[in-house]
Amino acid sequence: MLILGIDTSCDDTSCAVVKDGRQVLSNIVASQTKLHEKFGGVVPEIASRRHLEVLVPACQEALQQAGVTLKDIDGIAVTNGPGLLGSLLVGVGFAKALAYAAKVPLIDVHHIAGHIYANFLGETLPEFPLLNLVVSGGHSELILMESHGQFRLLGETRDDAAGEVFDKVAREMGLGYPGGPYLDRLAETGDPARIPFPLPKIRGSRYDYSFSGIKTRALLELEAGEKSEAFMRDLAAGFRKGVVDQLLNPVEDLIRQTGARGFALSGGVAANRLLRRESQALAQKLNIPLFVPPMELCTDNGAMIASAGYYKYKLTGGSRSQLETLLLECSAGLPLRSWEVDVG
Ligand code: KG4
Ligand code: ZN
Repeated sequence: MLILGIDTSCDDTSCAVVKDGRQVLSNIVASQTKLHEKFGGVVPEIASRRHLEVLVPACQEALQQAGVTLKDIDGIAVTNGPGLLGSLLVGVGFAKALAYAAKVPLIDVHHIAGHIYANFLGETLPEFPLLNLVVSGGHSELILMESHGQFRLLGETRDDAAGEVFDKVAREMGLGYPGGPYLDRLAETGDPARIPFPLPKIRGSRYDYSFSGIKTRALLELEAGEKSEAFMRDLAAGFRKGVVDQLLNPVEDLIRQTGARGFALSGGVAANRLLRRESQALAQKLNIPLFVPPMELCTDNGAMIASAGYYKYKLTGGSRSQLETLLLECSAGLPLRSWEVDVG
């Protein structure tokens, strides 16, 4: 079964063709980084206009690279939230029209479900229960999956997302855009012990995160510090360790409690070198496999949407009528819901 996956949730226009939810035949990502760089963040209006310009050529290229035509496509999967509303509208509007014209099912995919399913594109399939740490520019969540499409939220951030604080601190440090990868690289050569960032105390849940305190602390250290090269490296290293320590702090407990048979990282921040190393060490200690997508599948892409769309279609069936296809809506704050199994 061939699925065309489309993601326009933020500032990347992505289209991919995936076979049977597992085999990536093409994965086109038209990045808008250069357009937003000078503003130091994504400008929503510019992002949606750019999606309009490049979405059709990106899909054509995805079909071409996969060596197929629209006639060979069995279903279209599209991100309908969460994300920037204007950006989502472009992808969903296009996908609806295409699915209607091609008379194929349209499968709506939650962006976080998409990130999680990037881990189903590798050689080894994860087993359930699977504990997922989803960390991106907009999300920091711990999600347990007992089976396909069953998502149980066990922890989430109370304020900023991990990617967001990486980007903010990196920007103030004068590093590149988006800042996460630059700060990560700089931190590799620094001493994390010079400026330590202890774990915050969070009232209520043992498994929730809070990154705004650590961000403020880093900005204050930056203001007061000497700003030499060595200082910047050490600050980056200490800050990165603080974020990663917090992200992994609940994981051992949750894996033991839930009997998880695998631990999976996903989302843009899963590209972080320290997070990958520390997660590997933890998984080894607990004797369970760690799943991390290759770099190009960590950040936003259409292949992960196509994979999630395939598994969702298998589970929920393609009962939506052509008219219902045209009524699909998108939402900037779409909540993650488990997929309803088709019993009909
Ligand atoms: O998943 P993604 O492409 O977009 C969202 O859905 O948000 O994630 C982008 C985020 C950005 O905040 C970026 O700085 C961060 O992922 N990121 C990293 C690294 N690579 C990307 N953060 C820390 N270390 C990295 N190596
Ligand atoms: Zn994302």
